[in-house]
Amino acid sequence: MPTPTGAEPRLVAARAAAAVLDRGQALDEALAAPLEALDQGRDRALARRLALALMRDWPAADGLVRHLLRRKPARRDRLIHFILALALVELRQAREPAHAIVHVAVEVAGLAGLTRLRGLANAVLRAYLRRQDELKTFGQDDPVQEYGYPAWLIERIRLDWPDQWRAILIAGNQAPPLWLRVNRRYWSLDAARRALTEAGLESDPAPALPDALMLRRRVAIADLPGFAKGGLSVQDGAAQATVEYLRLQPGLRMLDACAAPGGKSAHALERCDLELTAVDIDARRLARVASTLDRIGLSARLVQGDAADPSGWWDGHAFDRILVDAPCSASGVIRRHPDIRWLRRARDLDPLTDLQARLLGALWPLLKPGGILVYATCSILREENERQISSFLEQHADARALPPVRLPGQRQSVGCQILPAEAGLDGFYHVAIERLHG
Ligand SMILES: C[S@@+](CC[C@H](N)C(=O)[O-])C[C@H]1O[C@@H](n2cnc3c(N)ncnc32)[C@H](O)[C@@H]1O
Repeated sequence: MPTPTGAEPRLVAARAAAAVLDRGQALDEALAAPLEALDQGRDRALARRLALALMRDWPAADGLVRHLLRRKPARRDRLIHFILALALVELRQAREPAHAIVHVAVEVAGLAGLTRLRGLANAVLRAYLRRQDELKTFGQDDPVQEYGYPAWLIERIRLDWPDQWRAILIAGNQAPPLWLRVNRRYWSLDAARRALTEAGLESDPAPALPDALMLRRRVAIADLPGFAKGGLSVQDGAAQATVEYLRLQPGLRMLDACAAPGGKSAHALERCDLELTAVDIDARRLARVASTLDRIGLSARLVQGDAADPSGWWDGHAFDRILVDAPCSASGVIRRHPDIRWLRRARDLDPLTDLQARLLGALWPLLKPGGILVYATCSILREENERQISSFLEQHADARALPPVRLPGQRQSVGCQILPAEAGLDGFYHVAIERLHG
């Protein structure tokens, strides 16, 4: 019987899902080496697509496997749970004929060394197909299964966005568009757009984001014209909005306090010549700032250090601009990284908001009077965003939030919130805070 494609990419997806859900590894990390080991680009794309789909549909697929399996598999056979869950996601999506999906899942079990469970896999999936009508409504009255998020996160989003929470959860389950940043030192937006069209890639500019193009279909990054020489970079439009809040001018002394992997540092330097210091606590991630800037032909002073403790790295000269692109829940970019919903725990939020407050408090004295600090997160949770900033403003009499620049997003009591998929963008929060003189 013909199979839609091989078992190998499906095994890669099932193993990566197990690494995320059982061992807390990030999906990109879990996929990196196995994807490289796959020969065909088509197989790599399939493995990635299926792993992402399983992250989005995990509660329902997991619930169905439990429901259909009479006995929990032995610990050493745990992978069969993920192989079956993946096949159920495929059966629910119905992009391939059902018999082919069952057939290939049985092959995956064999390839994984679970030969003795091939019969079981076949029986479980055939039972699902027989009972498909009855199981169509499985879990539908449970938001966890319906939307595919952990209960705690649904509750947080519902509390913060009582009118939009369902739309936010649904947006987080859709594949994001590919946004490009045009380096206008290298070429104009129009020239970049023409080069893309010649390469068969239609793109659209975005109102109020002068460097942004949104591609109408996805493409391998290395195939983008001008990418190798720094003419184009991949960066969501919401992240690109950050540079507008910075109100940059040539010659300013700027600190990017949480800089890795360097997207916003690079954007700022593409905009104008700056004396830029890029700090990150993580040496491995800081190396990525170096390679990002190298590719584009830009330079900055790179410092590995704790931005919440400037005594270890600050030279005593104040900055005109400080960007705090803070570590956060990443709840605004779940459509891009669907594994985040399973990796983050409710208990991570307090340490994160505490770190954000410490970063703001420690960096504020490094800003010149008249200078601007921009705080940004890819979060949609108010405690990381407007509540964090309101509390900062209460404690700092010399701080004043500037009115939001004209950009996509919704104005909050302080700062501006872009909700996921609004104008095609990631969920993001921005605020610019001016330090008052004397
Ligand atoms: C949201 S990411 C920054 C993304 C980056 N600005 C960009 O546009 O490419 C947050 C970064 O903060 C760094 N970080 C976390 N705690 C830090 C600290 N105490 N000091 C400096 N950097 C920190 C993390 O290593 C991570 O690279």
